[in-house]
Amino acid sequence: MKLYNFPELSQVAKARGFKALGSFNLHCLEMLPAFFRAAKQTNSPLMIQISTGTADYLGHKLLVDAVSSLAASEQVPTCLHLDHCSDPLAIRTAIDAGFSSVMYDGSHLNIEENIANTRLVIAIAHPRGVSVEAELGAIGGAEDGKMVAAEDISFTTVEDAKRFVDETGVDMLAVSVGTVHGLYTGKAQLQHRRLAEITAATGTPLVLHGGTGVSDEDMRLAVAGGIEKVNVGTEMNVQWVGRCKEMFEKGKVSDSVRKFLIPANEAVTQVLAEKIGLFK
Ligand code: 13P
Repeated sequence: MKLYNFPELSQVAKARGFKALGSFNLHCLEMLPAFFRAAKQTNSPLMIQISTGTADYLGHKLLVDAVSSLAASEQVPTCLHLDHCSDPLAIRTAIDAGFSSVMYDGSHLNIEENIANTRLVIAIAHPRGVSVEAELGAIGGAEDGKMVAAEDISFTTVEDAKRFVDETGVDMLAVSVGTVHGLYTGKAQLQHRRLAEITAATGTPLVLHGGTGVSDEDMRLAVAGGIEKVNVGTEMNVQWVGRCKEMFEKGKVSDSVRKFLIPANEAVTQVLAEKIGLFK
């Protein structure tokens, strides 16, 4: 089955009554069927995102083949998205392999360079039908081994967001409005007013990174305020590793490893299904 880009998948989601799409980080191939089970349970299309670390670990071709095959057999409209990538050449590799959506992350650059590089990536991606996400402002926390410290967080301004969208024509924009990547030490402080103002000024789908640990209420408000893609990564990892630790601890070496992984995969399905339920 053809993989969907973000605007195509978003259209399917809206036709099925969803206001936003969850975009879920796949950490290993074992989790993949669990993602599809959640999509089927909730009658939702599925957006799977891959960090550059996971893409290197599993290989682009295996990912594209496995995701396309399950999308076809399970009849789930699916988008395969490359998460945070600052290297246009690595983005081209993912597009050549068949990814249907990519994120160019130039949030560490000044706005002029971020705009120039995002335009370059769009020039590669759009003719191939691949959607592009960019990021403006710096989101705190740890993401795939890269850390943005609290003092380096910078929130996205309305003026910059408008300029960025006008000058790039990007498909979706990740904004820094108070979430952080990874586990929170306190409560997420979402800036709903900033979000509403950016939505009004840009009219472009906005992306909330750091979906782990955001309260259900904040999530619903963010979606009502213009967020159309919500990234969730750490939460699946925490559940999967937690269940595996328990199961491996009490299992015997002669047990099929499958027995240890099934409960971990079930926990992943549950996380996805619960999150997807918030996007109605
Ligand atoms: P969390 O790991 O905090 O859920 O964030 C995921 C993310 O934003 C990936 O880009």
